[in-house]
Amino acid sequence: MTDTHPTIDVAVLGAGTVGSQVIRILGEQADDLTARSGAKIRVASVLVRNPEAPRDVDVDPSVLTTDPATAIDGRDVVVELIGGIEPARTFVRRALDQGISVVTGNKALLAAHGPELYEAAAASGADLYYEAAVAGAVPVVYGLRESLAGDRVTRVMGIVNGTTNFILDSMATKGMTYEEALSQAQRLGFAEADPSADVDGLDAAAKCAILASLAFHTRVGIEDVAVEGITGITTEDMAEAALTGHAVKLLAIAERRVGEDGTEGVSARVHPALVPGDNPLATVAGAFNAIVVEGEAAGRLMFYGQGAGGAPTASAVLSDLVAAVHHRAHGGNAPRESVYAHLPILDAGLSHTRYQIRLKVEDRLGVLSDVAGIFARHGVSIQSVHQRYNTDPGAATIVIATHTAREADLRAVANALGQSGAVREVLSTLRVEGE
Ligand code: HSE
Repeated sequence: MTDTHPTIDVAVLGAGTVGSQVIRILGEQADDLTARSGAKIRVASVLVRNPEAPRDVDVDPSVLTTDPATAIDGRDVVVELIGGIEPARTFVRRALDQGISVVTGNKALLAAHGPELYEAAAASGADLYYEAAVAGAVPVVYGLRESLAGDRVTRVMGIVNGTTNFILDSMATKGMTYEEALSQAQRLGFAEADPSADVDGLDAAAKCAILASLAFHTRVGIEDVAVEGITGITTEDMAEAALTGHAVKLLAIAERRVGEDGTEGVSARVHPALVPGDNPLATVAGAFNAIVVEGEAAGRLMFYGQGAGGAPTASAVLSDLVAAVHHRAHGGNAPRESVYAHLPILDAGLSHTRYQIRLKVEDRLGVLSDVAGIFARHGVSIQSVHQRYNTDPGAATIVIATHTAREADLRAVANALGQSGAVREVLSTLRVEGE
């Protein structure tokens, strides 16, 4: 029988952890991928920094190149797995401007320049796919962009950074300090030598911006996301969380809300939070990711799985590649950017949450009344007060949980407590989410 499948030429930019897995699977599952995409997928070029470097996969040396033009020009689909903004942005633009479809796993690039890339893709008729940019193998981009295209999404909340989840989980379950858990994550290859993108919440913020844009049909960039990382989380926070039946998780939260002036808008934030033990997000262990999406018609959906690593991320890249190759060979296009809603971005200070505040106070008559007065003056209602243990002589540690209040008022309470003569130290303020 004659093989009637057309051949589609693919360039892979970057042959590191993910790129080498993409190339391996393309080789090992060539027949299946041809059957699914309707075309033979030929790795025509692989852009690398050093052609001599050892790799996890055998690559035909004749396709390796260090020259971006040789790698990209004239191909049908480009798979960008370099990461970071430059030179990835230049390479992706080079492809899209030629009408070459792009599959990328680059969250930083999309969160900073998504609209520009979408416009370039639409102008030339190319596809832009990026399932691997958010939560590795977990198909949440497809879920929001396609599966939920008929629903009205109200909230997206999840754990979208595996490194920080691994660190927080090790602190909670193994009693490690933050520093010990970070070193372990670095030894095991989860965290980079410079872990700041993960631990400062920036990686999660980029993913939050991408999810918010898809969920609310509105452009949300990384600059619109209020970000706090996990570097301030202590073993005492973990002990207190265990006492109250919570897990500490770094959450990305994007929600559609009505602002104080009655206008509907979007708020997007990334911060550590106490999550009640009966919320499924509390049980997400190790480096796993999980995202809960709430749709008006669908109700609550949970997406869960491996958010990083070579093979899981390659799975997401290949699913996009099958679609892009199918379109190239047989017609059709990826969904275009959907930003018709143009919702305003709401100030994160106006979002509503609960705080759990841990204080070291003077152990003397009237202190609780002084502290309670500060909450009352800022219009924040107290839900519970616990005195845990006496630390220093003459001092007491108390833990105050609030009812839901405006983020800005909760912050004002924390500031006022810090300046009060009754309070020796504000030991921690953690939001409570997911009840
Ligand atoms: N560094 C990310 C994480 C994976 O730990 O989840 C890539 O986004």
